[in-house]
Amino acid sequence: MSSAISTDPATMVIFGGSGDLSKRKLVPALFELHREKQLPPTTAIVGYARTGESDETYRAEMKAALAEFARKKPVEEAEWTSFASRLFFFRGDLTISKNFTDLKARLGAIEKERGLPGNRLFYLAIPPSSIGAVVKNLGQAGFVYRVDGPWSRVIVEKPFGRDLQTARALNEELSQVFAERQIFRIDHYLGKETTQNILVLRLGNGIFEPLWNRRYVDHVQITVAESIGVENRGKFYEEAGVLRDIIQNHVLQLLCLVAMEPPVAFDPDAVRDEKVKVLRSIQPQSGEEILRDSVRGQYGPGAVDGKTVVGYRAEKDVNPMSLRETYAAWKVQIENWRWAGVPFYLRAGKRLQKRVTEIAIQFKTPPIALFRQVGVLRQEPNALVLRIQPDEGIALKFGAKVPGPVTKVDPVTMDFRYSEFFGASQPEAYARLLMDAIHGDSTLFARRDEVEAAWEHVTPLLDVWRDNPPLDHPNYEAGTWGPDASVALLARDGRRWRRP
Ligand code: BG6
Repeated sequence: MSSAISTDPATMVIFGGSGDLSKRKLVPALFELHREKQLPPTTAIVGYARTGESDETYRAEMKAALAEFARKKPVEEAEWTSFASRLFFFRGDLTISKNFTDLKARLGAIEKERGLPGNRLFYLAIPPSSIGAVVKNLGQAGFVYRVDGPWSRVIVEKPFGRDLQTARALNEELSQVFAERQIFRIDHYLGKETTQNILVLRLGNGIFEPLWNRRYVDHVQITVAESIGVENRGKFYEEAGVLRDIIQNHVLQLLCLVAMEPPVAFDPDAVRDEKVKVLRSIQPQSGEEILRDSVRGQYGPGAVDGKTVVGYRAEKDVNPMSLRETYAAWKVQIENWRWAGVPFYLRAGKRLQKRVTEIAIQFKTPPIALFRQVGVLRQEPNALVLRIQPDEGIALKFGAKVPGPVTKVDPVTMDFRYSEFFGASQPEAYARLLMDAIHGDSTLFARRDEVEAAWEHVTPLLDVWRDNPPLDHPNYEAGTWGPDASVALLARDGRRWRRP
């Protein structure tokens, strides 16, 4: 993982340069890096898209995007002007090989003019179905160097396949052209500061790791709750669902960071070796076990933040009889020496009561209930809660005696808040990850075997769910914490979800 290091000047080509992701995330992140002077002055950004006119019209389009999505607004004119001079546009189709040879000539000209050495980063912000064609065209046009000299790398956006088979096929297509060290599979959760802090908390301190195992931990809960619905992505959601959209990648990545063994070194392969071992240790489930240990849900109409909202089936581009899940909960067991017998409860959903991502490590209760003698019948278990977002921080919950003549124990919290210690705003995850890709550091990107191992567990779930269509959708009201069945999933084990 990089600390501040010098950055190679490079040319970045964004396929899908006018798309939603480019406007909302990539260009704002690049603008932020430009403002912070993290990009060498010569670094160029080329938006590749099917429609558009010229560098000038592309710049105008991106200026409008920044007005809406830049982190710091309003965008200062002088900063915009200097950033705009890095931006170029290339009109092309993803499938036409001639467009790629023309692109090569255009990049050559831009690089010559700006004195760039020919390092190239290709960002595939395009639907998975187009990736194969682009990668092939890049290879055929001679864009990919595998020898020393200028580097070429590719960043691949999620969704990375839609099941194990398609993920494998995609990896195959990529590996025909790029070597694994040139491939950067992005999961923006890994770029979040609080996600990166998981390993620092565990392994950079002496007090947590000794407790981080089956002797002391009762169970772990990982929650990725969103209050937004599917917004304008109904079409995508009908295809994907929350299991593919959030659990297969973001949630399983968090699980790996919480559960992995200390790596032998802090380098990309050592870290990812340990993450893969976690995924390989997840106990496979039979069809019956899947139906028992997983819950799916779909939101109906309701109210979020006091505003009435429609149900999933009434969202734009959604089938009015859709069975697609917008909520999933799943109990997984990691069968290794550290975690045997400790359940990990995972959940993610749209249109829940509030936006919160957190990991809660719940500890076992003391071996004897000493204070029972003085009337304390039940004590809340200790919990360490890693708040990934928003209100980033870490809370330790424990019991304390309520001052007074009788012994009464109440839960209290020791709380660390990023905003109090490090200021209000966290760096944008995409900015961090783009810089890492430019530096060639893939620690925070998913390796081939990691993605495939994650799909190995998620695909059976998808298959079993497909073969057993839900009869109760929609089964939770927008603005609640999801379907009743998810409460039952934990209640069966004598546990309950935390209310974040
Ligand atoms: C994306 C999903 O990967 O993550 C979206 O496709 C989701 O559906 C988003 O809303 C959540 O990201 P964040 O950073 O807001 O938690």
